[in-house]
Amino acid sequence: MQLEAIAAALWRANHVAVLTGAGMSAESGVPTFRDAQTGLWAQYRPEDLATPEAFARQPELVWRWYAWRRELVAAAEPHIGHRSLAALAANLPGFVLITQNVDGLHQRAGSPDVIELHGNIMRTICSACLRCVESWSDDWIPPRCPTCGSPLRPDVVWFGEPLPRGALEAANAAVEAADVILVVGTSGLVDPAASLPRRALARGAMVVEINLEPTPLTRSATAFVTGTAGSILSQLADRLC
Ligand code: OAD
Ligand code: ZN
Repeated sequence: MQLEAIAAALWRANHVAVLTGAGMSAESGVPTFRDAQTGLWAQYRPEDLATPEAFARQPELVWRWYAWRRELVAAAEPHIGHRSLAALAANLPGFVLITQNVDGLHQRAGSPDVIELHGNIMRTICSACLRCVESWSDDWIPPRCPTCGSPLRPDVVWFGEPLPRGALEAANAAVEAADVILVVGTSGLVDPAASLPRRALARGAMVVEINLEPTPLTRSATAFVTGTAGSILSQLADRLC
């Protein structure tokens, strides 16, 4: 399906939902998870770093790994794809952005009301009382909660943990209402995020996948557009904004 037809469908839609994954931030220099060689899970084992058990077993290692990723993300800049989604949000009615990414780049590009399914690495919480903590002393690694003394942790969803209830409910509502869904830069392997486009397809919504390579969603998607998030989203924004 050509970009003109996709742009026309977006223009006609009353509700548009966008689901993004790590491929959305790759052009900002933030590593994906499953790209061969360069993906984080090609170099590290998720079960060693991104689970509550890993944090209980090696809190210092997990804290340092996320501190390293936080520095990467803080040094990254949103690219034209992020800015294009912010422009589309301003021009298309009923536009909702759902992301699996924890890097906050959509917000920094100007997207309002981003639904963060997996949390945000730039937020730090107490692992026990769950309050947000803005500053801490580095006497301990991981630092300790100033209120209850428990170890601090990144405010991201680890494997085996439930997603933030409000975020999941908002994402489900957006997908239920959507006439068109753009699925950008995700391998579609992690539920419940991966089930969102499938549920939209089952309702008869148009699902357009934007990726460099096919994924398990591709064969059932309405359209598959090969290309980078930056290139394809900016071409759509050029037609619609
Ligand atoms: P993955 O690393 O699994 O998939 C990245 C996808 O982006 C792949 O399909 C790539 O082909 C594609 N891609 C790479 N560069 C791209 C580009 N420039 N433009 C468009 N597409 C590009 O990342 P996710 O699907 O986001 O969860 O992973 C989902 C979840 O698994 C993450 O949120 C994280 C991870 O473990 C948790 O840690 C809980
Ligand atoms: Zn606490």
